[in-house]
Amino acid sequence: MATCNVIPDAGGIRPYRYRDGVLQLLDQRLLPTEETWLEYRDYQGVAEAIRTMVVRGAPAIGIAAAFGAWFAARDIPAETFDGFWTEFERRCAVLAATRPTAINLCWALERMKSLVRANPLQPVMNHKIALEYEALAIAEEDLRINRAMGRHGEALLGDGARVLTHCNAGALATGGYGTALGVIRAAVAAGKTISVYADETRPWLQGARLTAWELQRDGIPVTLICDNMAGYLMSKGEIDAVIVGADRIAANGDTANKIGTYSVAVLAKEHGIPFFVAAPISTIDLSLADGSLIPIEERGDREVTHCGDRQLAPEGVAVRNPAFDVTPARLITAIITEHGVAGGDYLPRLRELVAKGR
Ligand code: MRU
Repeated sequence: MATCNVIPDAGGIRPYRYRDGVLQLLDQRLLPTEETWLEYRDYQGVAEAIRTMVVRGAPAIGIAAAFGAWFAARDIPAETFDGFWTEFERRCAVLAATRPTAINLCWALERMKSLVRANPLQPVMNHKIALEYEALAIAEEDLRINRAMGRHGEALLGDGARVLTHCNAGALATGGYGTALGVIRAAVAAGKTISVYADETRPWLQGARLTAWELQRDGIPVTLICDNMAGYLMSKGEIDAVIVGADRIAANGDTANKIGTYSVAVLAKEHGIPFFVAAPISTIDLSLADGSLIPIEERGDREVTHCGDRQLAPEGVAVRNPAFDVTPARLITAIITEHGVAGGDYLPRLRELVAKGR
């Protein structure tokens, strides 16, 4: 099989840039029609960017939070370790409270905090220097992790596969390359012909606005569908595999991802179509026995009653807006990580993969 000369990578797009103490985030709310970079210099700004979805996608949120923690530390005037630590913890808690479901947020903050906690005898200035390097390391590692995930996962997609994805688990949602889209990119780079169906993903339209944009930039054939069309296409034999990302995976393999993922998994099971999850080890939360314990973010009514500025629903109508759902492990064919693939009895295998990452 011929190998693709071009490495598909959304034109090298990243959701962030960092230089000279300033974080820039690509405002994902404006894509695909506007490419606007916003600048951040303090942790409050970064917290607001995560909360308002300037940056989104579990690994990208973790990266932004890591830079937020570095800004938080940089501005603390305390010179004693105790004074510094108390304020650093308080500021990290502000960042942690921005979005509850994606565990990568807390994972990244915990990694930043543990660096400080481990060295109480170091001068405060040394901690500040180390935290900047740690934030950069988290961001750069994520890109390498996604490429490794792609290598492990691409073997699961056959030549000619028509693959459905939900939400955006691509370069924009990570340090680059992507988790679910990284596996697709790796399959294309290996010479396979892959085409993608992108669910539009109401209410934020990450599929329509971000996944379609990324894949178009790579020249990977992508067809946009409304969320309620997947079942029809599956019944017609037009989908060979489903691959999605994850926001948090419980110890038993139950997986929280963008709202609508569960419905797609049920449909895939009914039609005998493999359903894959691609996620880094940092998304696995072994402290939760199963998916019922994963906190699910509920967002505001306006995201459902409106599309952009246009009102779609009558004033005052009752609304529910859970941003994520949980797909039970029994509906998942395999979970792809940077350290290998898990399938079947997830509990021992996920423990093994997490241990490899330590
Ligand atoms: O609300 P979002 O856009 O942050 O939700 C993103 C998702 O659900 C993604 O599928 C998930 O974070 C994986 S991203 C690699």
